[in-house]
Amino acid sequence: MSAPATEREKTGVFSPGRARILVRTLREDRWWLSPLLTAVGLSAFVIYATVRSFVRTAYWVEDYHYLTPFYSPCLSESCVPGSSHFGTPFPELPMIIPLGFVVLPFLLGFRLTCYYYRKAYYRSFWFSPPACAVAEPHSKYSGETKLPLIIQNAHRYFFYAAVIVSLINTYDALTAFHAKGGGFGIGLGNVILIGNVILLWVYTISCHSCRHVTGGRLKHFSAHPIRYRIWTQVSKLNARHMQYAWITLGTLVLTDFYIMMVSSGTISDLRFIG
Ligand code: FES
Repeated sequence: MSAPATEREKTGVFSPGRARILVRTLREDRWWLSPLLTAVGLSAFVIYATVRSFVRTAYWVEDYHYLTPFYSPCLSESCVPGSSHFGTPFPELPMIIPLGFVVLPFLLGFRLTCYYYRKAYYRSFWFSPPACAVAEPHSKYSGETKLPLIIQNAHRYFFYAAVIVSLINTYDALTAFHAKGGGFGIGLGNVILIGNVILLWVYTISCHSCRHVTGGRLKHFSAHPIRYRIWTQVSKLNARHMQYAWITLGTLVLTDFYIMMVSSGTISDLRFIG
């Protein structure tokens, strides 16, 4: 939200003491390209995930026990038979409630409060600021000290929830080594499910909160050699956290899309065994 012109003259980059630059930025490169691509990419994922989470079709492949991550765990009596790996403690649900309702808020919270995504959507959607050395349209800045942004501090708790969800996704991926009619089987769906779950673990473990959990609050690394080793490995992954954030959005969509195509009978699963 832009401030009135008179107010703008006293606040933000127009405050007394700031350099008197009359244009919004002196940058001449295409600084707007990165926030634009980010906005397009994030919007596309949110639209796809929202539609798929609500449609309640083609999320389970009975023959091979493939379950899309958007519906896992499926804990309601509305779930198609076989897709509820952990029982159905909840009754039939109206269509306005997604069948993955138990974990979706935690996954959403984990991604929304992620340090990388914060940077991404602060720049792309709130223009706060849109890029380095580009003035933002807002007149005031309260950071993450007030509601709703103070909730960003809950990221460490969402991290623990994400670990549990990753365990559930791992269980789903392992359960899916199933042949038509019973027994052990492997198909392209298994490769996609396992690849997705590995990358979800990599994204989760590369989280800044995980880095703190493993090596934070230590005064002397030399006194904690195991934690130091783990922290070192997590830190290496952490350096690529942004890439994993994007890759996992892609693998989630790919996994769901493939299962949707097989489940709906549009394509057949490519089978290697069983
Ligand atoms: Fe991105 Fe934790 S998941 S910082």
